[in-house]
Amino acid sequence: MIAGEDVPSDHCQAMPDNPPSRVMSLKKPLHRQTHGLIAQPSAMASGFAPGKCILFGEHAVVYGHPAVAVAIDSGVRVSVERSNEWTLEGIPFEPSRHPHISHILNAVFEYEGPPLKMEVESNLFSAAGLGSSAALSNAIGAALQAHINPGQSLDPISLARMGHSAEAMAQKGRASPTDTATSALGGCIVVSGQPVDGTKHVFDAELETPEGIREWSINSVDLPDSLREAYLVIGFTGEMSSTGKMVADVAKRLERHPELREEMNSIGRITSAGLTAMSAGNLEAVGMAMDACHGKLRLLGVSSPSLESLVEAARPHSLGAKLTGSGGGGCMIALARDPQRVAEAIEVVGGRPLISRLGAPGVRLLED
Ligand code: MEV
Repeated sequence: MIAGEDVPSDHCQAMPDNPPSRVMSLKKPLHRQTHGLIAQPSAMASGFAPGKCILFGEHAVVYGHPAVAVAIDSGVRVSVERSNEWTLEGIPFEPSRHPHISHILNAVFEYEGPPLKMEVESNLFSAAGLGSSAALSNAIGAALQAHINPGQSLDPISLARMGHSAEAMAQKGRASPTDTATSALGGCIVVSGQPVDGTKHVFDAELETPEGIREWSINSVDLPDSLREAYLVIGFTGEMSSTGKMVADVAKRLERHPELREEMNSIGRITSAGLTAMSAGNLEAVGMAMDACHGKLRLLGVSSPSLESLVEAARPHSLGAKLTGSGGGGCMIALARDPQRVAEAIEVVGGRPLISRLGAPGVRLLED
C-alpha cells in the first residue's frame, strides 16, 4: 500500500471499466512540454500537499450543491529523482496499480523522460476521507513540475485541475474538485455549482460525469480569528473506505429512491448556514450545522456503526461532530475548544484521533 494514496481506488477497486472521463477544465495544462526539454532535471525534487476535511456538503457537492472544506496540517510528501529504473517506495513501479500517479505522469505531463525513483511519505490515514489521493496527486504534480522545470514557481490552480482529472479517472467520472482544490490552495475552500456570496472566486472546474456535465465554482474564504480558538479532532474508525464505491452507491440509491434528492437539497441548505456561521466566527452555530449535516448524511446511507460510535463519543465534549468525506468507514470530525479531551473520548471507544488547525497552508515545494 502506498501511503497517501486513496487505497481502494488503487488496490481494492478495479481500474475503471469506462475510459477516463474528460475533465474539461484543463484549459491551462500544467506541462506538456516534457519531450526533449528535460536536459537538466533537478537532482531530487520534493513536494508536500495537505489533506482536507469536509465540514459540510460531502456527496451533495458531486451533484452541484455547495461544500465547505479546510486543509489540515497532515499530508503527503513525494520526492522524485532520476534513476535507472522506475520505482515507487523502493519496489518496481506498476502503473496499473497506481492510477493517480500513472494518470499524472502520462495523461497530464505526458512524461517520456528517464525512469524515476519516487518516494511517498504520508501522515494521513489512507482511504479515510481525508483526501489522501488528492494530496498524493498534488504532491506528485508539484514534485514532477520542480523536477522537470527547476526554479519555476508552482501554480496551485493548475495542480488542482490536474488532481481533479486524476480523481475523476479513479472515481469513474464522478468526482468534485473539493479535495484537490482544498489540498492545492489550502485554507478554507467553498466549492459550489453557483458563485457563493461572501467568498473570493478562485477558478471554475467542469467535468463530464455519467449524469451529464457538472460545473463548479471554487472559492476561498478568510476565516475570522475567533474560529482559530477551535480545532478539528479527526477520528479514524480504522476502516478504510473507497470514495469511488461510496459515490457510486449514493448514485444507485438516488436512482432507486428519487426522494433522497430532498436530503441532498437539505445538505445544500445546511452547508450555506454553516458557511454563514463560519464567516461570522460563530463557533456554536458551526457546530450545530455539523451535527445537522451528519443527520442528513446518515439518511443518505453513508454512515456506519463505527462512525456513529465515534460521533457519539465526541459530541458531549465538542461543538459539533459528523462523518467527513465519503463515509462508510473512514473518519469523523469534531470541532472542539479542548481538542485533547475529544481525542481521549475518541480513543476510549477505539478510534484513532488526529488534531489539526482549521485551514492549513496548501501545496508547496520542499527544500531537501
Ligand atoms: C470525498 O472526499 C467527498 C465526496 O463528496 C466525493 C467528491 O466530492 O468527489 C464524497
